Amino acid sequence: MKNILTIVLILLFAGCADNSENDKKPLPENAKWWKEAIIYQIYPRSFKDTNGDGVGDLKGIIEKLDYIQSLGVTAVWLNPIYTSPNDDNGYDVSDYKGIMSDFGTMEDFDIMLVGMHERGIKLIMDVVVNHSSDEHEWFKQSRSSRDNPYRNYYHWWPAEKGKPNYRYSLFDEKGEAWKYDSLTNSYYLHYFSQKQPDLNWENPKLRQEVYDIMKFWAEKGVDGFRLDAFQFAAKDTTFPAFPEGFEKNFIDYYAMQGNLHDYLKEMHEEVFSKYDVMSVAEGAGRNFEDAHMLVDEDRKELNMAYAFEGVDIARPDGYELRHFKEVFSRWDSAFAKKGWLSIFLSNHDQARLVSRFGNDEPQFREASSKMLNTFILSMRGTPYCYYGDELGMTNIGFETIEEYQDIAAINGYKKVQNQGGDIEEYMRNLRVSSRDNGRTPMQWDDSKNAGFTTGTPWLPVHENYKKINVKLQEVDESSVLNYFRKLTALRKANPVMTYGDYSMIQPDHPTIYAFTRILGEEKMLVVLNFGEKQSSMGLPESIEIDKLLTNNLNSMHRDGNLINLQPYQALIFSIN
Ligand code: GLC
Ligand code: CA
Repeated sequence: MKNILTIVLILLFAGCADNSENDKKPLPENAKWWKEAIIYQIYPRSFKDTNGDGVGDLKGIIEKLDYIQSLGVTAVWLNPIYTSPNDDNGYDVSDYKGIMSDFGTMEDFDIMLVGMHERGIKLIMDVVVNHSSDEHEWFKQSRSSRDNPYRNYYHWWPAEKGKPNYRYSLFDEKGEAWKYDSLTNSYYLHYFSQKQPDLNWENPKLRQEVYDIMKFWAEKGVDGFRLDAFQFAAKDTTFPAFPEGFEKNFIDYYAMQGNLHDYLKEMHEEVFSKYDVMSVAEGAGRNFEDAHMLVDEDRKELNMAYAFEGVDIARPDGYELRHFKEVFSRWDSAFAKKGWLSIFLSNHDQARLVSRFGNDEPQFREASSKMLNTFILSMRGTPYCYYGDELGMTNIGFETIEEYQDIAAINGYKKVQNQGGDIEEYMRNLRVSSRDNGRTPMQWDDSKNAGFTTGTPWLPVHENYKKINVKLQEVDESSVLNYFRKLTALRKANPVMTYGDYSMIQPDHPTIYAFTRILGEEKMLVVLNFGEKQSSMGLPESIEIDKLLTNNLNSMHRDGNLINLQPYQALIFSIN
């Protein structure tokens, strides 16, 4: 029976395959395009400016489509491009069906989407519906009077009932999520900034509006949605008191509340089931049980979610590799049989990959960038690669608060001031972990402003752009960029890298992260040195090395099953 099944699968995939490799490599039954996707995240504001206003735009992305395709990625996740006053760079939407004028027009969008599809690249859009902008028409109406039909699109608390129970806000300069509005003598709720009022998901009308927006984009042909901050969307609208100090663990109180799963089921029914779109939530709840409830296939909610435990272990003063390995292995095993993971170490809310998890000193930057990209592209789960990390771009580390643009950094500063906290410590932490570190303009070449803009960039270009840029790396066989391309090609040619079982070797090794991936006869071994010193590892006898598939350095030292790795060396072998 098993043999027949294998033959059927082989025939099936031989029939529809565009790549003869697949003849030998049947995919699992539950294969899905979004599991095999390699996602490239673009922060449009910082990618490429074409009209000299210093802000990246859709025409800039169109201009760079061949570059994006050349990376070997198969999908793009675009941060919000909708009409927005940009209190939080597009995460405050004032018209969900309009394109932000800084970024271009709907015509540009349509051309961009066609251009992506022509190149075999799918498009995933950010959907920001835990909150809208306070400049959205819904909020303007809602705010205008207590009996306005849009009143219940948001959460209001009439002041005559007294002050509502404390709610923590991530971006508020006082940390307060209730904002008093004298117009109707009421408070409104904002988990993020004052200009990002939370939408009332308990209102079925609001939910239908959101599904309608999602269908609008799905009809245009977009291939997926990333649900921003969605784990916070449902609320207990009686707003009970939370215990003192709850804000230190606010996820426990904010995530996965009330009817969230019902809303997701409804969204699945209304939107996801009708189109070939993937869905991914930012945030995976409070624990594995929550995460599974979001993504297990038979529940018909979402395809993927991503959690922060993996990135959160890197503190401003570093992280411990054993901890890192333990976290990634624990998550893998929790999803080994059911559900699907997202793998990422950086995005627009994090500092730069190499500065945070590797080593951006000149002698180590290239090796450690390549090593980290190897990790992301060889784990089980869908890899999310952030623009610029394919070059090894680094943190900018501003010195003064005036240089920062990010509302989280600026209001965080005010909060520390308000509370009489340690400003110097705050600034030290910002230098290494601020979100602006990950938002500096893409470094295309060595011309002024790295070829990003002919004007003044909205956020300064990193001064190292003359050394780190696409143009230089294109012509260097051994660049971080060309290594990234080899890795995406390797992953696409070897389903074991997507679907294979993961198993860690020597969990306690302090500097080397090694694991095998196994899918039937296809077997690989990944060995990564996360340290700045040479380090060695003896492999178990059960592993017989076949051949070396990739190496991020020029040489390799191996004596039988003893492997000696140079600082930040990354090796992938096929094994028997
Ligand atoms: C998410 C986004 C972040 C944004 C926040 C509020 O965390 O990734 O950039 O600031 O939601 O929308
Ligand atoms: Ca522009």
